Amino acid sequence: MEFKIALLSGDGIGPEIVGEAVKVLDSVGAKFGHRFEYEKALVGAAAIDATGNPYPDETHEVCLRSDAVLFGAIGDPKYDNDPSAKVRPEQGLLKMRKSLGLYANLRPLAVFESLAHRSPLKTGIVKGADFLCVRELTGGMYFGRPQGRSEDGNTAYDTCVYTREEVERILRLAFRQARGRRNKLTVVDKANVIATSRLWRQIAKEMAPDYPDVEMEFMFVDNAAMQIIQCPTRFDVIVTENLFGDILTDEASVISGSLGMLPSASIGETSALFEPIHGSYPQAAGKNIANPMATILSAAMMLEHLGLKEEASSVRGAVNAAIEKGVVTEDLISDGEKPYMTTEVGDFIASII
Ligand code: IPM
Ligand code: MN
Repeated sequence: MEFKIALLSGDGIGPEIVGEAVKVLDSVGAKFGHRFEYEKALVGAAAIDATGNPYPDETHEVCLRSDAVLFGAIGDPKYDNDPSAKVRPEQGLLKMRKSLGLYANLRPLAVFESLAHRSPLKTGIVKGADFLCVRELTGGMYFGRPQGRSEDGNTAYDTCVYTREEVERILRLAFRQARGRRNKLTVVDKANVIATSRLWRQIAKEMAPDYPDVEMEFMFVDNAAMQIIQCPTRFDVIVTENLFGDILTDEASVISGSLGMLPSASIGETSALFEPIHGSYPQAAGKNIANPMATILSAAMMLEHLGLKEEASSVRGAVNAAIEKGVVTEDLISDGEKPYMTTEVGDFIASII
């Protein structure tokens, strides 16, 4: 089969790690008889430097005409340290999510057996943890209006808005994900305080009878933050609103022992984007030391989304083999071992496929 893939490498280590994922995709293509046609486009600080716009119209066109988007990372210290900057790389990400309608962000968290000892939590607590966070991505406080400052500059406000339609579609997706896993869904909210959370809870209760095979529970977000650390194995699928999901997924990401391993997917009705959850890691840019595995695993999620299940599992198998053999970058080596370079890890994984 033939697929059009938009490549949005972005900033920092983005181009290096996306390059390795492309290598792996090409070897999947060669082995299984598919053709991936790539089209590159600018996003983030790289796009601001070239065009003044963090998500140019041309990039949007490239995404629209692709079957899927493979995304690297965005962010540049020169903007982080300048609170007065009018145009920021992150605005490109938000504009992209909204204009492509990417309403669901799926962040799977699984602890690799051989990496469990790297977790900041006790091995006994994290071993076997395997859950999926479904974060609503185009609503809530990120996009609610009004947002801003009073005229005298001394008061600021954000607005959290959710419509029934937005809540239903993300819950539907989460119920279905639970069906494909261990049939358990935790709806995380702050319904004891916040009106939008009470709407979420009401709608979830209305929908639950349509999914009698899924065991649904509610959990307040503060409690969830605690349980994720105390007993991560109790979760199967977690669904929550945009800002809670942003925070909880960063918290969850460290459980696995390496941020460099975690993929994600952002899904809409017509577009889908795949990206590692780590950032642009500017200190490592250009040094050939960044871990490409999260991006390669994101490419595996992309293959699955394109209906290529066997291909996706061959990629996951190859990543596992690299870990088992110790063909890993410096973030994953044990004492006294020699780290491999980004390109060597990519070559190895591609060669196993
Ligand atoms: C993420 C990031 C973004 C977010 C930032 C960069 C705007 O933290 O993808 O989780 O807050 O959604
Ligand atoms: Mn985040």
